[in-house]
Amino acid sequence: MATTDTKTRRLSVNAAFLKDIKDDNRDLKILLDRIGPLAEHQQTATNHWPELIRLFADLCDQLALHFSLEEAYGYFDDAVMTAPQLSICAELLRGQHSHMFVQIRGLADRALEISPEGVEQVSQFLKEYDQFRQIFEKHEEAELKLILDALDDDIGVGD
Ligand SMILES: [Fe+2]
Repeated sequence: MATTDTKTRRLSVNAAFLKDIKDDNRDLKILLDRIGPLAEHQQTATNHWPELIRLFADLCDQLALHFSLEEAYGYFDDAVMTAPQLSICAELLRGQHSHMFVQIRGLADRALEISPEGVEQVSQFLKEYDQFRQIFEKHEEAELKLILDALDDDIGVGD
């Protein structure tokens, strides 16, 4: 009986959060889509540096909100109560938030200090942003998979 209660609660929390995360991702996607073409080529980045500074500051704010919303609603906590493997994965993914935030805040700060004419600096900056983007994309995919796995687990093991 206690098991059924736990499973029911887990499913509803995850379903609601899945909707929230989609809504949040839309705002983030717009921002990432704006940065994308500007950060793709060095010359484009140099030509649009003041815009990139603003976009990186916005991205920093958006990610702070995104991560704190995810952590505040704590869908992980419900998921980990009945599935140890999900718990390990959830701990890992939640732990990535702070690392990613440090990374993006560092990039936003550096964008302010860099002279857009500094070829090496801009090149290095764009390389680091590309790495960040890939890490973030993998994280988002893994989080969605975690939610889906939790939902599958909940439905599959039900009686
Ligand atoms: Fe996340």
